[in-house]
Amino acid sequence: MVNFNAPISWKHSPGFDDLELLDDLQGNILKGHGRKHVRLLFLQFAGQNQGRALVRRLAPFVTSAFEQLQDADTLKRTKREGPPFVSLMLSPWGYQALGRALPPSNSFAAGMKGQAAALGDNPNTWDPPYVANNVDAVLLIAVGNDTADAGFVTSLEASYRLLIGGDASVVAAERGRVLERGAVSVEPFGYADGLSQPLMLQEDVDAFGSRPASNWNPAFPISNALVRCPTGGPAAHGSFFVFRKLEQDVDRFDKSTTMAAALLATSREEIGARIVGRALDGTPRTTSVTPRGYDRPSNDFSYAADAGVRCPVNAHVRLANPRALNGLAQGVARPQNFVRRGMPYAEPDTPPGPGGYQGPAAKQKAGLLFMAYNSDLAVQFEAVQAALAPDLLNQFVTVRGGEYFFAPSISGLHNV
Ligand code: HEM
Repeated sequence: MVNFNAPISWKHSPGFDDLELLDDLQGNILKGHGRKHVRLLFLQFAGQNQGRALVRRLAPFVTSAFEQLQDADTLKRTKREGPPFVSLMLSPWGYQALGRALPPSNSFAAGMKGQAAALGDNPNTWDPPYVANNVDAVLLIAVGNDTADAGFVTSLEASYRLLIGGDASVVAAERGRVLERGAVSVEPFGYADGLSQPLMLQEDVDAFGSRPASNWNPAFPISNALVRCPTGGPAAHGSFFVFRKLEQDVDRFDKSTTMAAALLATSREEIGARIVGRALDGTPRTTSVTPRGYDRPSNDFSYAADAGVRCPVNAHVRLANPRALNGLAQGVARPQNFVRRGMPYAEPDTPPGPGGYQGPAAKQKAGLLFMAYNSDLAVQFEAVQAALAPDLLNQFVTVRGGEYFFAPSISGLHNV
């Protein structure tokens, strides 16, 4: 029996049921795929039969959680990258178009635009393809352990477009690429990102545990992300996938923080750290007001001893995860936390310079392709999004579109 109330192990004596689950589950949910380039193709099925045929045709290319973990392990040992990482997810409109029962969730059934009021969204700012509720599915293709692999992902995208053929039209396409400062991934404002994640693999928890946690238990039960997959067998699981295209006005963020710094006679870095709640290098503001360097920023902290003097109560990370109660709890006691798998983007998609994105002189727009997996959209993503209403970052971010999807089990894809 799989224990859904604990992290899952894949290497150290997993049970047969655990391996069966990982083999049928899509990758990127329990652990990020870790690739440096991503393409998202948003599809509208040509009809029910074409949609079903297409999903079944793509299913064999989809990377399972188990394959992803093996590929990452091989890469670590041999420095050889495995096959591309591929994922296929269906929107509520996709399930309807295929004539299949939706995974139960009122938020999912409404779609992201249907939840605009709850999310504080104004779809007038959205790119047209996302407004029309005509995105049935998204195909995620990711490659590259090297930032130079952009050419490869482009040719791969072309191959997948051929494979899709006339069974669906590609109504939108997004390109993401990792932004790095040294060994750390950063988002377009320049802050280290992806530091605080619920860990659902026992091997990841053990790695974190080499530095004993005293304020924050990073271990989460797999039920944090997984729910039953309606089209798969009895053991099949999937996850709700949130996609949001968040455009960031980097120029305005830089100017505003510089101006505020001058007014308050402090540094721009200090202002930014107070807005985000972590310094550029990821140092949690609540543990140290002096940045501690890029070497493994801590995630073992709480705000118990900080009424807002070090880390303001409306700092982004504090609003998103107040760590107020149950920081060290096991099990399902912290239901609002969820995994984020976002990736920066820039349009046009030219390689970032040493200082990050190219800036307004290059007329380049930049932002985050925000991606996340949830077992309960209302309790997780939507609740955190609502908690982020007072976030000062919001004034520098414009939502350009988004949709809710479900990542079915691989057997569930074969069965549509
Ligand atoms: C463009 C918009 C955004 C930017 C620039 C941004 C940036 C960041 C940064 C720099 C961190 C710190 C790194 C880390 O703790 O992993 C962070 C953490 C986080 N963000 Fe965002 N974020 C954005 C949007 C969002 C949205 C829309 C949500 C959810 C609705 C969200 C939820 C979180 C969560 C849950 C954390 C981790 C907090 C923790 O556990 O301590 N972020 N974000």
